[in-house]
Amino acid sequence: MRSSFGLTRRGFLLSSAAALASPSFAFGKTQPRAASESFNPDVDIELVCKRDSVAILDGAQTSVWRYAGNLLKGPANTLTNLPGSYLGPLMRFAKGQKIRIRLRNDLPEQTITHWHGLHVPMEADGHPMAAIDPGETYVYEFEMRNRAGLNFYHPHTHEATATQVYHGLAGGIIVEDEEERALGLPSGEYEIPIVLQDRSFDDNNQLAYWGGMHRDMFGFYGERILVNGRPDYHLEVASRAYRLRVVNGSNARIYKLRWDDGTPLTVIGVDGGLLEKPETRPYVMLAPGERLDLWADFSGRKAGSKLVMRSGEFEGLVPPMAQRMGGDGLIVGDDYPLFSVTVTREMSDSPKLPEKLSTIRHYRMEDIANRDKPRPIALSMGHMEVAINGRTYHDDLLDIERAPVDTVQLFEIFHEHGGGMGGMGMGRMGGMGMGGMGPGMMRGGMMGGMGGGMGMMGMMNMAHPVHLHGQQFEILSRSYNGDDPDAYATIREGLIDSGLKDTVLVTHGELIRIAKPFGDFKGRFMYHCHNLEHEDMGMMREFSVE
Ligand code: C2O
Ligand code: CU
Ligand code: CU
Repeated sequence: MRSSFGLTRRGFLLSSAAALASPSFAFGKTQPRAASESFNPDVDIELVCKRDSVAILDGAQTSVWRYAGNLLKGPANTLTNLPGSYLGPLMRFAKGQKIRIRLRNDLPEQTITHWHGLHVPMEADGHPMAAIDPGETYVYEFEMRNRAGLNFYHPHTHEATATQVYHGLAGGIIVEDEEERALGLPSGEYEIPIVLQDRSFDDNNQLAYWGGMHRDMFGFYGERILVNGRPDYHLEVASRAYRLRVVNGSNARIYKLRWDDGTPLTVIGVDGGLLEKPETRPYVMLAPGERLDLWADFSGRKAGSKLVMRSGEFEGLVPPMAQRMGGDGLIVGDDYPLFSVTVTREMSDSPKLPEKLSTIRHYRMEDIANRDKPRPIALSMGHMEVAINGRTYHDDLLDIERAPVDTVQLFEIFHEHGGGMGGMGMGRMGGMGMGGMGPGMMRGGMMGGMGGGMGMMGMMNMAHPVHLHGQQFEILSRSYNGDDPDAYATIREGLIDSGLKDTVLVTHGELIRIAKPFGDFKGRFMYHCHNLEHEDMGMMREFSVE
């Protein structure tokens, strides 16, 4: 559909025109990357991407692609397999550990893995350009710099991320640190990973990636919810506090988490780890790539009592024509169950929710290099086309935007297309955001006269979960100036903007300002829409950190 990947994997040959304008980062002389003798790992893991089959539904087994892990060195609890799941092992690392992961590709096509949320050097980030062929091994080596938090690993293969994740390649990464350990939060059997995904199955129980052109344009929406790779997920719990560590690992589906009995949700953490203090919300929105750390306290509930986590009703995030793509049972924005909980044991004591969870050093305006000149991340969708700052990703190095290393940059994220204006012509203006024209002008020009949003393009308005690789960012502000405040009111209270984030849901009509650090590592780092079909369609760019 698009021009093929412009750089060859082994040589990374740059066309001469591109080379002139391009930063000179390459992936080292040996490709694929091998283990280095000078790196002495605390943890050494072999991680194989392979074909397999698992029993998901009654009847025939389902063919999947999956990660299989093998711990060569390190603490025994580093890898945990989720029972009966196609998901990769849950990895547990500690801040400061030196980690080596040997990724072996036993798939019939190229792949490369990205550690979503981890702050690692370019060579360890899973840049699409580093993809390896079947039979090859790519060795990642990095030191864990992240604070405690839940992260997410998955393929980042050029134009094949969505299908590779869909067929099962994904897993969670828990990072621990001293600050978190001191809190004594629920652990062991009281800490439960919840990976939310939606899938469709054909008559023979095989994964069906249905939807054609509409799927590419709006994302894939499945007919069934799977939690940790299992249908009809059910937890049996004791009447005490639990820690639920939730990842939205779906390709495109956005959830609005709520307890069916109206109990509010207690949020203790997001993408980048613990919040400073707990926040209570009636519901919480969770877009693809986002994580959530929930304090779920079942104390005082009688044995036999039941609770259901549901996705509640919302409007305005997905165009009407896409809402039904997952079938009648799981219409996007309707209310449906995600998993259920039954209290099976009564317990008299339970840990108490800490009032203070962590310390976050907030950015001040003086810390921000471009505080007077915010940089745009302008999202647009046209007819069978997606773009950021006016460009669809082709990896021809024109996609690169620069960021000086060890600076904090201010970005404004917004939808640049409007109701009646369409995608055409807008792209050019987006591109100018990189150079002379300020984003304030862009917004003025675009959002000012856009009117009701009822035209053809109004049908294309959809929310995008925007993900930036590298260090996590702080959301400074979020404002809504869209044309459907009633729809917005169905999600507003569920947006958690405190704590550190690496993925943020951006609704049409919103302006979100973030302070994003580019510390420590020079090189090429991606940013993109985490609707995986949008990512593969080219709603992606990269930063050259130099
Ligand atoms: Cu979770 Cu660049 O992706
Ligand atoms: Cu990422
Ligand atoms: Cu998108």
